[in-house]
Amino acid sequence: MDQSILFKPLKMGDVELPNRICMAALTRQRCESKDLVPTDMIIEYYGLRAEAGFILTECVPISQRSLAFPGEPGIFTKEQVEGWKKVVDKVHSKGGRIYAQVWHAGRASLSTLQDGLEIWGPSPIKIRGIHRRGLTEHEVPHEMTIEEIQEVIQQFRQAAENCKEAGFDGVELHGAHGYIIDQFLRDSSNQRKDEYGGSVENRSKLCLQVIDEFISVFGRGRVGIKISPVGRLNDQCDSDPLKLYTYLVKELEKKKIAFIEVKDDNDPANLFDFGYPSSKEQIPDLFDVFRPLFSGILLANNQYTPTTAIEGIEKGKFDAVTFGRLFISNPDLVERVRNGYELNTNWDVDTFYTKGIKGYLDYPLYSQQQQK
Ligand code: PHB
Repeated sequence: MDQSILFKPLKMGDVELPNRICMAALTRQRCESKDLVPTDMIIEYYGLRAEAGFILTECVPISQRSLAFPGEPGIFTKEQVEGWKKVVDKVHSKGGRIYAQVWHAGRASLSTLQDGLEIWGPSPIKIRGIHRRGLTEHEVPHEMTIEEIQEVIQQFRQAAENCKEAGFDGVELHGAHGYIIDQFLRDSSNQRKDEYGGSVENRSKLCLQVIDEFISVFGRGRVGIKISPVGRLNDQCDSDPLKLYTYLVKELEKKKIAFIEVKDDNDPANLFDFGYPSSKEQIPDLFDVFRPLFSGILLANNQYTPTTAIEGIEKGKFDAVTFGRLFISNPDLVERVRNGYELNTNWDVDTFYTKGIKGYLDYPLYSQQQQK
């Protein structure tokens, strides 16, 4: 396999990536205490992956109300910002680049984490089924008022300012997977009758307003977004995703943001089984649609391998790939690909969301494996 294209540097807005093997956001829930401050273990975990083209942090909550996963490090207190600063410094000291994935769970929030706060969403429609971590049913969210929407926009802005203070190289708005931005975008969760609901323009409004706030804090060259136009996670579907995301991506193009990360849902069987059409039926090839609309960097995400990444980049479908699970079990993924070493595909699903170093820091580096 000729992997040289993965090592062709890439200009992503204001930042030069030395390779195209980027690290996707990965929920790991490793904070031990309620303060949700990144710990030494978390600092080390990210530092070990500094060779990535760039690192996206796990989804980082912007407020108490936005929490959905126990132990996810936040970016809304001074102590959390100090903690992230240490993560960023560690990655920078090893020559890496790190962006925060900034996140509000909206109706997917978990009430046991909210300290009595009400759960907010665009419309009073609950996610069907059991919460991904909470072992309880989801709640019907409170339909946010215009003032409450403004409050959340301000929290996103403050979060971006906090990220800047922590020294992050940039920010990615989490606009995917059925969290608040996605909940406003798609019509399965947004049934509002006001200026934030109805037309594709109205449903895109929250997303684009938050992007504007991010741009005003970081500059357009350091801002990106993740989208999942046909993803079904958290009971999401749009009746016309082609129309909605064509509009959204055209607007993002006008704003000249640095990148769009696209969750490439290859889910013909509709595994989440909410009774929605299959993803492939709605949009057979997301990159065929978005590549002509967006001149910035397109990142592909979802179960790519180095081989499928090379294929897609060579065909001009996207520019780089964010790898998730492979980065869990191969902290030195970049070095392994560069040298053609075998990849460890024995990631341990049972330790993705547990506490402690097991399945977190204990994956051996290739050179250490070799010495055994
Ligand atoms: C999860 O932890 O299940 C999770 C978190 C963020 C996502 C998707 C899934 O974007």
